[in-house]
Parts: sequence; structure tokens; C-alpha cells
Amino acid sequence: MHQFTKTLVTTALPYANGPVHLGHLAGVYLPADLYVRYKRLKGEDIIHIGGSDEHGVPITITAEKEGISPQDVVDRYHRMNHESFLKCGISFDYYGRTTSEAHHKTAQEFFTDIEQKGIFIRKSDKLFFDRKADRFLSDRYVTGTCPICNNAEANGDQCEQCGTHLSPLELINPKSKLSDGTPELRETMHWYFPLGRFQEKLENYVSQHEEDWRQNVVNYSRTWLKQGLKDRAITRDLGWGIKVPVESGEAAGKVLYVWFDAVLGYISFTREWAAEQGQSERWKEYWQNPQCRLVHFIGKDNVVFHTLMFPAILMAWNEGRQSGCYNLADNVPASEFMNFEGRKFSKSRNYAVYLGEFLEKFPADTLRYSIAMNYPENKDTDFSWQDFQNRTNGELADTLGNFIKRSVDFTNSRFEGEVPYACTPEEWSALGINWPETLEQLDLAYEGFHFREAATLGMDIARAANRFFTISEPWKVVKLDREAAAKTMALSLNLCHALSVALFPVIPETCNRIHAMLGFDGRIEELVRPGKSLLAELLSPGLNKGHKICPKSEILFSKIEESDIAPELAKIEGLLAEAVKREAGAEQNRMEFKPVISFDDFLKVDLRVAKVIAAETVKKATKLLKLQLQVGSVTKQVLAGIAKHYTPEEMIGKNVIIVANLADRSIRDDVSEGMILAVEGSDGKLFVIEPEGNEINGRQIQ
Ligand code: 2FM
Ligand code: ZN
Repeated sequence: MHQFTKTLVTTALPYANGPVHLGHLAGVYLPADLYVRYKRLKGEDIIHIGGSDEHGVPITITAEKEGISPQDVVDRYHRMNHESFLKCGISFDYYGRTTSEAHHKTAQEFFTDIEQKGIFIRKSDKLFFDRKADRFLSDRYVTGTCPICNNAEANGDQCEQCGTHLSPLELINPKSKLSDGTPELRETMHWYFPLGRFQEKLENYVSQHEEDWRQNVVNYSRTWLKQGLKDRAITRDLGWGIKVPVESGEAAGKVLYVWFDAVLGYISFTREWAAEQGQSERWKEYWQNPQCRLVHFIGKDNVVFHTLMFPAILMAWNEGRQSGCYNLADNVPASEFMNFEGRKFSKSRNYAVYLGEFLEKFPADTLRYSIAMNYPENKDTDFSWQDFQNRTNGELADTLGNFIKRSVDFTNSRFEGEVPYACTPEEWSALGINWPETLEQLDLAYEGFHFREAATLGMDIARAANRFFTISEPWKVVKLDREAAAKTMALSLNLCHALSVALFPVIPETCNRIHAMLGFDGRIEELVRPGKSLLAELLSPGLNKGHKICPKSEILFSKIEESDIAPELAKIEGLLAEAVKREAGAEQNRMEFKPVISFDDFLKVDLRVAKVIAAETVKKATKLLKLQLQVGSVTKQVLAGIAKHYTPEEMIGKNVIIVANLADRSIRDDVSEGMILAVEGSDGKLFVIEPEGNEINGRQIQ
């Protein structure tokens, strides 16, 4: 096992194109914060670097829709998201922006280095160009009819109706979203990163981490590796982004692809952090020091960018260097997703709870606790208002809050607000909590990224403490045996202290309030010292006899009433009703037959039985299979959108029905000379229609 002396934690940079929601918090930012806060408590040297991803096409689309500049869009959401994170207690050491000058410099420095080493490949390709707007159109700027479900408003990258991922070239009647005109195909040159050049190194890298990375992270990476890594375009024809730093005219109008620049943001922001500290070279202690452990917290949709793409960029930079080499990630704890009331969060359908809005109504710690207890570590989990209410009322208020308040109040009313007894280590150990074992379990939970277990262990201490107080009955005992009650109270106050430390990563504000109720000035964060573990304090009682506590207690958690969550539940009901209506509408559409045609019209359609004699996948069109069909004595080539449902091997030998007299259609530099008939099942799977009979090849359907 590698011995690390420092840790650098990064969190996926959210696009500054909308407010972050609870799903983002659950998968990335809260787990990272729990990890960082825990390690700080242990006295470790750790920094947490995050920030906004401020480039990319969707930001320009938002700007166009709203009639403002992309800069206005990112200014708005950067501020909003940063504020929400701070309010939620996410303790970034630095929260940067990819529009910063320093970041542009870093990204260009990487591009130039790799370009000068001759690693990039230049390739020309035909892309849609809008003549009126005088611009190349990225996938999102093209709309048209989906070749799979005929939705007339499919996007160039995906059809919202059938969910199929598309390339703009697959759309029927493509249109530019900018001018509504028909775009033309134009040749354009781009820089490509040859991921395949690093295939072997990346395979070794992933293999080295087979044991310590999450199964899903290894699996996603391996799937890509198995398919063979392809060249990836890392530039785009776009006006918003980081200019491609090449002097010649060929880079005009081109920017770096958002993913190439975003991952480098982690480095830029660490540099900015160091400069802010007045130690501008200090970032190297975290990035260019093999003793520093690099950990990327991300969601599962970002895995390969962090396990293959970013490492490959760093490998390219490191190539041929003796010094100034960057570390690769030691771990990438990618989360699964947290759903919301049984459905996926969806920004476009406004089916979400946004972090900022949530925190206007409920305290951050109630949310942090609830989400930690539902951390989507190995499978998708669900956030529900009911669960949030139950946890807040039953666990935070009735168990933790109640115990702290009882301990402080009783000490104030019966023992003059002083710790009334000097507890011995033996008495501390006899409480029924095995402290060394608890600390070891906490450590295993946090270090292994098992945050649900970590939060549960903290709450288990609160449960044990509450039980101890109830069973000891100091309110009765004090009348008969003051010394025994004094001992109970001293142990209880020490338990309050232990809880303020053990639960600090999960509910930091509450723990600081407990700290203050116990009579301490300042905040727990201020006690943190390099090399000194605050957790070790739990091994023996920390409060001395005579220590003065605060004369006033506080209610740590207010109960969440039905009336507090009723409006939220009503809102969801509304959103769900809308979703059901939408789905019913889609069903209705399916039953609305197309306009009536005459019998003669029908006879115009030449439906024939054909046999698939060859089938292959189509480069760059992941939905299409290229089929060669025998139709009687004629062979025809058909491009069919069935690649997600059939392998080429499964298709070969099948009898299918083909529209044999359909006008030829160009798809991706190729031609389709007909169409085969298929039907979609309720699960979205397509089934080609397979006619049966003797010697039917080439025969007409009647
Ligand atoms: O998926 C996203 O929201 C991206 N903005 C994440 C980027 S992570 C890293 F590259 F910065
Ligand atoms: Zn579709």
C-alpha cells in the first residue's frame, strides 16, 4: 500500500448552466465534504478543490434563449451554486471558474505541450454548417425527424421521445435551430486526442486499481478499453470557450472541447488556491508529488473522463519529462444516482429540488444527515420527503437533540452548570461503547468511502448515549444519591463532547452548537492541527471536573411538521400528474392514426419479403446497422436504426419485410435503398417483423 502524506480531493465541476439539485449534492459534493472533514479531524493535510464548468454548448443555448451573453449565464449560476454549497457547509478550499484567465492559460499550456510533442492528430470531417448564421452547428443546434420513432423534433444528439442517442447526420430533414434553415455539410478540421495511443498504459493503470476502485468504476473503464480506445475530437467550431492556441488560420473560430478543458480546471484551481495563499508554487505539493493522494469525487456519468481521458492527457504531458510530472488519480469514488420520490431528477422537466431553494426552508444539517443516510454508494437510492421528515424528527431531534438538551439542562438545573465529577477511563469504557473499535470502524467507513455506515456509526453513539441517560434516571437518582447522579451527568456531558466530534463531518453546524453549549469558545474547525487527531480524544473522557458549560441550552432540531412538507408533496403530485399526462398524451398520439389514404395510395407501397445476407455496424452511427438484403434477384442495402436491439450476427439469415420502392436516402455518406418494418415493444425494444412461409423471398406482401 502506498503511503501518502497529503490528499487532494476534487469534485466534478458542475456546469454553470442551472442550479445544482439534491442529486448532485448526494452523489458528489456531500460525500467529498464528509471525507475531507473527517480527514481534517484526523489532523491530515488535505485540500478540497472545486468550481464551475463554464464552457460548452448548452450554456450558449441558454444564453440565446434568454437573449443574454454566455458570460451572464455563467456569472449567475456560478454565484448561485457557490452560495448554495457554502450554505450547505461544503468546505471547499477553493472554488474556481473555468472562465478565469489562469485556467485558460493552463488549458492552452497543456494543448501546446501535447501539440508540440506531435501527439494530436488532425482530421477533417463533414459537419453541418448554417450559412445564414455563418456557423458550424454542434449536435445540439440541429433538429429534425428521428429516424427511429419519427418524432419531428428530435435533437441532433438525442431524441427525447424515444430516448435514442443520435448523430445529427442520422436526422431526417435536419434543420438548424439558429435559422430554421436546412444546414449544409461542410468540411472542417479538428484536433483529435489519440486515446488509443495510451491503451496499454491505461489498461495497466486500471488493472492496478482493480481491487481498490468501485466495481462500477472498473467496469465502465474496462468496457471502453475492451472496445478499443478511439481518437476523440478535442476541439470544436464554437465562439464560446478556450481558443485553440495555434497561430495559423486553421484554428480560427475553434475552441477546446469542454471536457478537455474542464478536467484541467482541477489543476488551474489548485494553482489559484496556492497563489491566494501567497505560496504560488505550493500547488505542486499536491499535483506533482507522488506522496499526495489524488481523489476525484464524481457521478457515474463522468467515470471514463476521469479514469481514461484525464489520465491520458496527464500521461501525454508527463511523456518525456523527468520532473514536473502530474499524479494520476489514486481513487475515483463515483456514485450511483439518487432519485427523487421514485423518479430520476430531471432539470428539463423541472422535476427536482434545488439545493438553494431547499436551504431556504430547512437547515443544512438535516439535509446533510438525510442524504448521508441515503448515499448512493453501490446502487441508486431515493430521496423522499417522508424519509427526510422521519430522520429529522426521529433521529436528529428525538435521539441526538433530546440527549444533548437533557444533559445540558440537567447539569444547569442540578449541578450549577459544571461537570460535577471526574470520570475515569474505566467508567468511560464501561458505557457499553467500545471506543477503540468504534474509532476503527469510523475510520474504515470514511477511508473506504462508505458514508452511510459512517453516519450510522455516529448516530449509534447518540442512541447509546440517550439510552444510557434514560436507564440511569438521574432525575430520580439525584434525590437519593447525588454522587451517582453526578457521575451520570459527567459521563453524559462527555458523551455530548464525543458526539460533537464523531458527528462533525456529517452535521458540522450542529456539532459547533453542541461545542458552544458545552462551554467552549470558537469553532471545532479551529482546533484542527496537522498531525493531531481530534478523534483520538474520544478514547478517554475529555471534560474535566469543574469545567463550566453554557448556562443556556438550545433546541438543536425543530420537528418537521406535516404542514411543512405538505406543499412539497403537493408540488410533486403536480409534477407527477404532468408526467402521467405527458405519457398518456404520447400513448394517445400513438392511437391517432395518420390521415386516411386511398386504396390506390396503399398499392403504391411495394412491400416485399427480403433476406438479410450481410450485416455490419456503421462507424460513428451507433444506432445503425448496414444490411445487405436479397430481394428476389435483386440486392438492396438498407441502413436500419436497430443496432441497439440486434447484433449484425443476429440479423444475418432473417427474413424481413422491406419497403422496396422507397426513394433512396443518404445517411452518413452512405445510401439506404429501402426500409425494413419493425415494431416497438413497451420496454422500447424494437422487433423486426419476420414473415414465415415457403419460398417467400422477393414476394410482395398483400
Ligand atoms: O457532468 C458535468 O456536470 C460536468 N460539468 C462535469 C465536469 S467534471 C470535470 F471535468 F471538471
Ligand atoms: Zn425517436
